[in-house]
Amino acid sequence: MDDDSNALLRDEELSDKNVYSTADPTAGITAPGNSSKIPLLAVENLVKSFGPVRAVDGVSLELYEGEVLGLVGDNGAGKSTFLSLLTGYNHADSGTFKYRGKPVAHASPSTSRKGLKIEMIYQHLDLAPDLTVWQNLFLAEEKRKFKVILDKRYMIHRAADVLTELASKVKPTDLVGALSGGEQQVVAIARALLFERDIILMDEPTAAISLNKVRDVLNLILKLKGLGKSVILVSHRLEDVLEVSDRIAILNRGAISHIITNDHRMTITELAQMMFEGSVQNAVSVAGNGKLAGGGD
Ligand SMILES: Nc1ncnc2c1ncn2[C@@H]1O[C@H](COP(=O)(O)OP(=O)(O)O)[C@@H](O)[C@H]1O
Ligand SMILES: [Mg+2]
Repeated sequence: MDDDSNALLRDEELSDKNVYSTADPTAGITAPGNSSKIPLLAVENLVKSFGPVRAVDGVSLELYEGEVLGLVGDNGAGKSTFLSLLTGYNHADSGTFKYRGKPVAHASPSTSRKGLKIEMIYQHLDLAPDLTVWQNLFLAEEKRKFKVILDKRYMIHRAADVLTELASKVKPTDLVGALSGGEQQVVAIARALLFERDIILMDEPTAAISLNKVRDVLNLILKLKGLGKSVILVSHRLEDVLEVSDRIAILNRGAISHIITNDHRMTITELAQMMFEGSVQNAVSVAGNGKLAGGGD
């Protein structure tokens, strides 16, 4: 036998023991409840400054198919700015984006939707109250017959399908302005399903609705997960984040300080402690030109 036999044997042993080599950085990484190893979305080293403020300071993060990722942090930690880089509302100063392992030249809301399959559910929901549900769902992306005639039948039918998928009682012909906040959220999310986005971003989705509807939103998030969608949930309601997230990323002054696999045993107090630990040191370092001692350029 030649020298290679050794290498082969080693490879077999390695694969048997599920040990991975550095050649495949994704090997051995599994997100909870997820069979696929390649992240749906991977961002690396995202940076975004506003003047002297590094709102997002070198964030690398992966999101897996069917995963709910909670994103928490103090006010001003950079959560909304991070989401705005994903949606293309803001451009990252530097950093890379990959969708299912492939680099995406992401520079606009359009590349976010089409290249990264991202849909953002805004707090103000972005719906037209004086139009029906189906009209809102297809707004600016209307389906036409022969490129001219609006295919109303098709649109109502598709709208009914996605609303059923979300187990909602909302009807395609309901007027959006007459719906509750929670129901309007369903409509916003139905739009994401309709156009086959894979990733749904939510920034404080329970902030604008009454407390007794919070349950509905959490159920909706779990429903999306059940449909194989991935969700990034930004919320200051830590009990909600702890309930629905598979993993929780903590953002502290623009940088990720922890990524926690949620075992559903962590308490709100423990999570809050992790959020705020070290924030005093960081405050000092930001005052000193935004760099940690010993850090490079
Ligand atoms: N458009 C902007 N112009 C200038 N500074 C901004 C802008 N957006 C956010 N910031 C600053 O970036 C930092 C992060 O803000 P933000 O992303 O809104 O945090 P969070 O959503 O976690 O509360 C804050 O210091 C905030 O003041
Ligand atoms: Mg915010």
